[in-house]
Amino acid sequence: MHSPTRSSTRIREMFAKIAPRYDVLNRILSLGIDNRWRRAAVERVRCPDGGTVLDIATGTGDMALATAAGTGDSVRLVGTDFCGGMVEIARSKISGSRYGNRIALTVASCEELPFRDDSFDAATIAFGIRNVENREIGLREICRVLKPGGRLVILEFSTPRSSFFRTLHGFYLRRMLPAVGGLLSDVNAYRYLPESVRAFPGRESFEQLMQAAGFTSTCHTDLSLGIVTVYQGEKPATSP
Ligand SMILES: C[S@@+](CC[C@H](N)C(=O)[O-])C[C@H]1O[C@@H](n2cnc3c(N)ncnc32)[C@H](O)[C@@H]1O
Repeated sequence: MHSPTRSSTRIREMFAKIAPRYDVLNRILSLGIDNRWRRAAVERVRCPDGGTVLDIATGTGDMALATAAGTGDSVRLVGTDFCGGMVEIARSKISGSRYGNRIALTVASCEELPFRDDSFDAATIAFGIRNVENREIGLREICRVLKPGGRLVILEFSTPRSSFFRTLHGFYLRRMLPAVGGLLSDVNAYRYLPESVRAFPGRESFEQLMQAAGFTSTCHTDLSLGIVTVYQGEKPATSP
């Protein structure tokens, strides 16, 4: 059994604190393009009619809603997150949306998913894997619950490759983000964000982590000059 560490408890408490203002801050801080990034990631999701998609670290449900909008009406979704406060907000947004009957929600940690092996046709995780304390275990869990041949799509912040844009982006992350986040929400959470982006592995190293967890056919695509990256990988169709 995976036991939460002090650091993962701290991350959960931090998200509980910022949950009420999470969506509004996302729209402001991304200048309104965060949902466009989610839609670009959903284009890579592959799910057959009648299939089920798991959205891990679903937060306030925006990725689950984007996936519901981008897949057929017969596709069902399950959103999971280890922060009950975020899931409560997702619940009220989803029940008031046209996708309420297609999306179920549950509180669960990525490192210990309460599902049987080979349960889901596809999985998504948007801006979540960076926060998962034990990424190796988390990715292995996602691979376990995917059906053979199922695809994982990950959307995550990155560091731009161009040094000029990287400098601008660094300034924005270090100065603007905590200033705006501190005004409207919790300053420490919006200081954590740039630190966590900086600490996240580079694109190639992260793909290697996916491969070590059992994914094949991994690849990645940068969006918005490399501020964010979409990764994908597949659970092998047959056991190696
Ligand atoms: C930045 S939010 C992203 C939410 C949503 N996916 C989106 O696109 O806006 C990160 C989410 O990851 C969740 N999270 C962090 N670590 C987790 C873990 N180990 N297991 C499950 N959820 C986790 C947090 O509670 C938070 O809701």
